[in-house]
Amino acid sequence: MIITEDILLSCENISKTYESSRIRTKVLKQVNAKFKKGSINLIYGKSGSGKTTLLNILAGLDKASQGNVYYLEKRYGSMSDSDLAKLRGINFGFVFQAYHLIPRINIEENILCPSYVNGNKYDKEYYQFLIKVLGIEMLVKKMPYELSGGEQQRAAIARAMLLKPKIIFADEPTGNLDTENTKTITELFQKLNEEYKTTFIIVTHEENLIEHCEQVIRLRDGEIVIE
Ligand SMILES: Nc1ncnc2c1ncn2[C@@H]1O[C@H](COP(=O)(O)OP(=O)(O)OP(=O)(O)O)[C@@H](O)[C@H]1O
Ligand SMILES: [Mg+2]
Repeated sequence: MIITEDILLSCENISKTYESSRIRTKVLKQVNAKFKKGSINLIYGKSGSGKTTLLNILAGLDKASQGNVYYLEKRYGSMSDSDLAKLRGINFGFVFQAYHLIPRINIEENILCPSYVNGNKYDKEYYQFLIKVLGIEMLVKKMPYELSGGEQQRAAIARAMLLKPKIIFADEPTGNLDTENTKTITELFQKLNEEYKTTFIIVTHEENLIEHCEQVIRLRDGEIVIE
């Protein structure tokens, strides 16, 4: 595969079939996509169309049944699990659909988690900025179960952004938020995109980001339409 310089992430003929004892579900069929450095990319599609599946494969969290994913010139399939984990730890940030905060540690420790792969190094001023902008300053000493869904979601966003990763994968990051918080987060994404050239791949129903985005990917019947 030829990869031009401005492409950060790409996938080639990705198919995914889930197999349980009796049922085979073909979710993705021969999906091809390219994501440019510093671009905002949106993934749309109805519930069950395979958005989370595609995002997890692109992020190297799940394996495709067929096809390849490349980060720059590196093919995920050619890397060991630990090399792939290292690549993710350094370059990727995740906002999961169900937040996935670690239950037994407080919010601050959750947000600082990505720095554990980095010798606990992080930009302290930037951490303060993030918790302030996201309106969770007063909550950082609390435990995840003491927070509302939207508060947990904002903490998960701070965690994803802590190390200023090259790519942020966000699965319905504003799914549980009111209009005002949704606006704050879409503006924060744009700011990161402008300041640090962060690439975003976002599963969303939010229309606000469309005017700032490089491409819109629609998933239907396992196939994608790129707009
Ligand atoms: N681990 C799994 N085993 C079997 N089937 C699965 C598994 N994960 C997802 N599926 C099926 O694959 C399809 C796509 O699921 P996926 O979670 O990617 O959809 P989605 O577009 O993210 O939906 P939503 O908008 O509801 O989050 C669904 O039909 C789902 O039931
Ligand atoms: Mg989903």
